Amino acid sequence: MSGDVILRATGVTKRFGGDGFLTRSPVVQAVDDVSLEVRRGETFAIVGESGCGKSTLARLLMRLLEPTAGQVIFDGEDISHAAGPELTRLRRDMQFIFQDPFSSLNPRMTVGKLIGEPLEVHRPELSTGERRAKVGDLLRTVGLSDEHANRYPHEFSGGQRQRIGIARALASGPKLVIGDEPVSALDVSIQAQVINLLGDLSRDLGLTLVIIAHDLGVIRHMSDRVAVMYLGRIVETGTAAEVFDRPRHPYTQALLASIPAPRPEGEERAAHLLGEMPSPTAPPPGCRFHTRCPFARPECRTAIPELASADPGEDHRVACYYWRDIASPDGAARAVPRSEPAEARFALYRAAIEGGQVVHKPAGSAPAAPPAT
Ligand SMILES: Nc1ncnc2c1ncn2[C@@H]1O[C@H](COP(=O)(O)OP(=O)(O)OP(=O)(O)O)[C@@H](O)[C@H]1O
Ligand code: SF4
Ligand SMILES: [Mg+2]
Repeated sequence: MSGDVILRATGVTKRFGGDGFLTRSPVVQAVDDVSLEVRRGETFAIVGESGCGKSTLARLLMRLLEPTAGQVIFDGEDISHAAGPELTRLRRDMQFIFQDPFSSLNPRMTVGKLIGEPLEVHRPELSTGERRAKVGDLLRTVGLSDEHANRYPHEFSGGQRQRIGIARALASGPKLVIGDEPVSALDVSIQAQVINLLGDLSRDLGLTLVIIAHDLGVIRHMSDRVAVMYLGRIVETGTAAEVFDRPRHPYTQALLASIPAPRPEGEERAAHLLGEMPSPTAPPPGCRFHTRCPFARPECRTAIPELASADPGEDHRVACYYWRDIASPDGAARAVPRSEPAEARFALYRAAIEGGQVVHKPAGSAPAAPPAT
């Protein structure tokens, strides 16, 4: 593994179901032959429509699920089938931030206990006093204060709860944090604060972040590289700038074109992609996108296009036979014009993120006033 790659998936596949003796349940092909690399210190985003396999992939990358086929290498070790003490060590080095800050925190535990629990498991050498001090550090790192340790999750707002979830994830001193829709349950302005916090943490602590999101507006400004998933497979990957500004796959182009406009009252109306995503129990043969692709040709139905770059060594890769023809008739890639709603949404997030609304004090500094999130 090259030095700067912390996580590598090769041909990772996950099928659910197919069990039962008399009434065999249908096989769900949730993730199919996914290969990707996450580099140390970067923010890597996985995007795609609901049901395309993002959460399943995230769980496979963290060894919360065992792959049906393929391999996951984390920090030089094959973790695909890790168990026992190896799994305990993994839980320390890879942490998860959940989507829902309301249900992911035990309501009967104080914040101090919630954050102290992973410290007890992964840092048993700490005395009670050291653990308490560390909980205070972690609270301040996420922009809360020591006094919050004695309160219960229901006493906090959604944004604050997500900060608590992040502090809990940081307690074991992980190398990599995976956030499955970490801000999608929050209001846009609070989303920006939490995104800023994650960005600060990744920079200050040298963390690698894998962020799952269906909101491309969020991803545009926080990720270094992006993978676009469709029906269990990655169809395009590259730097955020490449994928957003020069999307090659018709699905990525459609996703960008269907970004809903931000609305002041918080209501959003998505311009939907043409048709429904087929069921992962019966994915179409050949290119899985062919049933919805306006550029599909008969050959697209026969074999699955490989995820490949235009030139060897190029980071931007796409799984489409005809992306060059689609990008422009003369074969030169060109920027695809984005819709006005997409531009408005990107601008909204950019403004919120650049507005520096987050009140974030690094560990060890004086207790901060709790942010009004
Ligand atoms: N344990 C399971 N058993 C059976 N099917 C499952 C299981 N977990 C996920 N699936 C199916 O696998 C497919 C991918 O699900 P997954 O939750 O990974 O998608 P997702 O992209 O995270 O969707 P969302 O954006 O809605 O969270 C879906 O069809 C889902 O119903
Ligand atoms: S391979 Fe064919 S069906 Fe698939 S995205 Fe490309 S043009 Fe569309
Ligand atoms: Mg999900």
